[in-house]
Amino acid sequence: MTQDELKTQVGIAALKYVQNGEIVGVGTGSTVNKFIDALASAIAAGEIKITGTVSSSVASTEKLRSYGIPVFEANEVTRLGVYIDGADEIDGEGYMVKGGGAALTREKIVASLAERFICIADESKLVKTLGAFPLPVEVIPMAAGQIQRRFVAKGGVATLRLKEGQPLVTDNGQHILDVTGLSIREPLAFELGVNQWAGVVTVGVFAQQKASVCLLGTSTGVKTMVF
Ligand code: 5RP
Repeated sequence: MTQDELKTQVGIAALKYVQNGEIVGVGTGSTVNKFIDALASAIAAGEIKITGTVSSSVASTEKLRSYGIPVFEANEVTRLGVYIDGADEIDGEGYMVKGGGAALTREKIVASLAERFICIADESKLVKTLGAFPLPVEVIPMAAGQIQRRFVAKGGVATLRLKEGQPLVTDNGQHILDVTGLSIREPLAFELGVNQWAGVVTVGVFAQQKASVCLLGTSTGVKTMVF
C-alpha cells in the first residue's frame, strides 16, 4: 500500500469516532484531508449528520466549507467530543510532535477543547522517541534569535522556516522555527519548559494534549492504539 492509501484508510476509520449531532474538531494536513473527504461522503450519503466542525487552520476551513460543512469559531463552543488530527511523530504513549503544516497553535487550541484526541497517521509516524522530525516551534518574530540560542544550549539547531525565500508567516501572523538534533525523552517536562520561554507561542510537542487513541495505517490494516 502507498502512504497515500494508508492515509485514506485511517481517514475513513476515523468516521467511527464521529457522533451524530456533535461538533467535531478537525485538524490540518494531508491525512486530515482524507478524513474531510470521507466525512463529506458520509454526510452526502446520509450516514452521518453532524452539527458542524471547529477547524484548526484556514486551509481546513476552506476545504470543509467547499463541501458545505459548517465551521464554527473555537470561541462559539465550550466542548468538543473529539478532535481528529494527524501527527508528524507519535510515540508508544500517545505523545506527539506536530506542526509540520505550521498549524500547531490552532491545533493545540482546538485539541484542548476536546475530550478525546483521535490521532490518524500512517505507520511511518510511529517512533520510539520524539525528535527525529524537526520540532516546529511557533515564535514571535522579535524573539526568534534568543529562542534559537536557547535551543543550541539544549543541543539543537533551530532554523527559521521559509516559504518562497521569505520567513513563513502562520495563520496567526508569526514565524516557525524547526529544531533538529533533539531527543525528547520527557515530552511533558519538555513542553512545559519551552512554553515558559519568552516569545514562544506554541511548541510542537503535544504532551498535555496527547492522543487518546491513534489509528495507525499499516499494510495489514488499521491498528488502534489506546493511551
Ligand atoms: C500540521 C500538522 C499535521 O497534523 C502534521 O504535519 C501531519 O501532516 P500529514 O498528515 O500531512 O502528514 O501538525 O500542522
